[in-house]
Amino acid sequence: KKSQAWSALFSEPMSELVKRYTASVFFDQRLWRADISGSLAHAEMLAAQGILSAEDLTSIEKGMTQITEDIEAGRFEWKLDLEDVHLNIEARLTQLVGDAGKRLHTGRSRNDQVATDVRLWLRDEIDAIQGLLQALQLALVDVAEKNAEVILPGFTHLQVAQPVSFGHHLLAYVEMFSRDAERLADVRKRVNRLPLGAAALAGTSYPLDRERVALTLAMDGVCQNSLDAVSDRDFAIEFTAAASLVMIHISRLSEELILWMSQSFGFIDLADRFCTGSSIMPQKKNPDVPELARGKTGRVVGHLMGLITLMKGQPLAYNKDNQEDKEPLFDTVDTLKDTLRIFAELAGGITVKPEAMERAALKGYATATDLADYLTKKGLPFRDAHEVVAHAVKTAIGKGVDLSQLSLPELQAFNPAIEADVFEVLSLRGSLNARNILGGTAPAQVRAQVARHRARLAG
Ligand code: ARG
Repeated sequence: KKSQAWSALFSEPMSELVKRYTASVFFDQRLWRADISGSLAHAEMLAAQGILSAEDLTSIEKGMTQITEDIEAGRFEWKLDLEDVHLNIEARLTQLVGDAGKRLHTGRSRNDQVATDVRLWLRDEIDAIQGLLQALQLALVDVAEKNAEVILPGFTHLQVAQPVSFGHHLLAYVEMFSRDAERLADVRKRVNRLPLGAAALAGTSYPLDRERVALTLAMDGVCQNSLDAVSDRDFAIEFTAAASLVMIHISRLSEELILWMSQSFGFIDLADRFCTGSSIMPQKKNPDVPELARGKTGRVVGHLMGLITLMKGQPLAYNKDNQEDKEPLFDTVDTLKDTLRIFAELAGGITVKPEAMERAALKGYATATDLADYLTKKGLPFRDAHEVVAHAVKTAIGKGVDLSQLSLPELQAFNPAIEADVFEVLSLRGSLNARNILGGTAPAQVRAQVARHRARLAG
């Protein structure tokens, strides 16, 4: 009894090691639902074109219903001998319905079949990821709204630069995630195209209606070149690139959460449920979730490197190399989905410590630019104002005080144009409120952005 689809030609059995080395069923079985949808769409079209009888189609549909139930119930027996998800399902179908099952593969190859399955599967995963990205953005928008008035030292070079609203800071990440969502929507257009009909590499002599199959599978069109259809994996590469960017954004946020929670900053606390303790140091509470997210970013970026390297030397058309696309792609999706889910929850578990943030903002002469702007508005050229304020800062550093703690006469010694209204300008809140420009950090702008994001995310 033959155990492989091509056995008649072969005069010796495959060794156990080669079987295990070439088989993909233990990881590609997760494509089963896409494989069955693709087969049903193909069979329906074969019948409509008169290539398959109506009775055979009914048998195939019945068999596939049975197989679906068995897989869902965990009763389906996956066999290593049958190599991959496609041959496992087809063999079981034939066992259930006889010759009709053997007719299903008419005008089709596993090469266009697997490319179709991966695309269908990935399309649905992209849709799920979009939902998770949206939930994360909404969670961050909520925290941003509550903290529109909270003042954080903004950094450049990790040195205190200018005061910013904590809400504004969080909305920077919302911008990144919204671009990620745009990127994924764009990738989806190229993922959602149909390879079926390309067969092994050259197309097929059967009068297949490819457009009909694409329509049945809710795909946006058909791949227009059979060689490209079976050998292209750049849809998977660009998805993984987009996923890497999402992870990189999460990794940057993670890095900030970790810093902010450290004793040296003390800007936030994270809910206990996202942290773990130490087995030796009783006082420890460690931000494991953001640390792991930062670490898993390396893993996803690694998958991107794996996939692009997998493609680079392949001649047209299909090569078995492509079987290696699955584990990196699956792990990318799993890692991304879990990370997005956990971060949407984590956002609600951030306790903000506004006093500590303000204290830190007061340390680094964060309003020096405001004093320079103040003098510029009084008529001094900006470059001269910049120099005046540098002297003032130097003096304040020498006295160990903030600019706002110098007396009016002391300030006027640097430039006589300075008046009593300077103290509002030198306050953190004055600095924040002054940046009332589109995209700026003034709380009024933050609230406007919150409203814009809510409307965008609802629509
Ligand atoms: N398991 C294979 C893959 O993942 C399916 C296609 C195999 N085609 C072939 N001619 N060996 O790519």
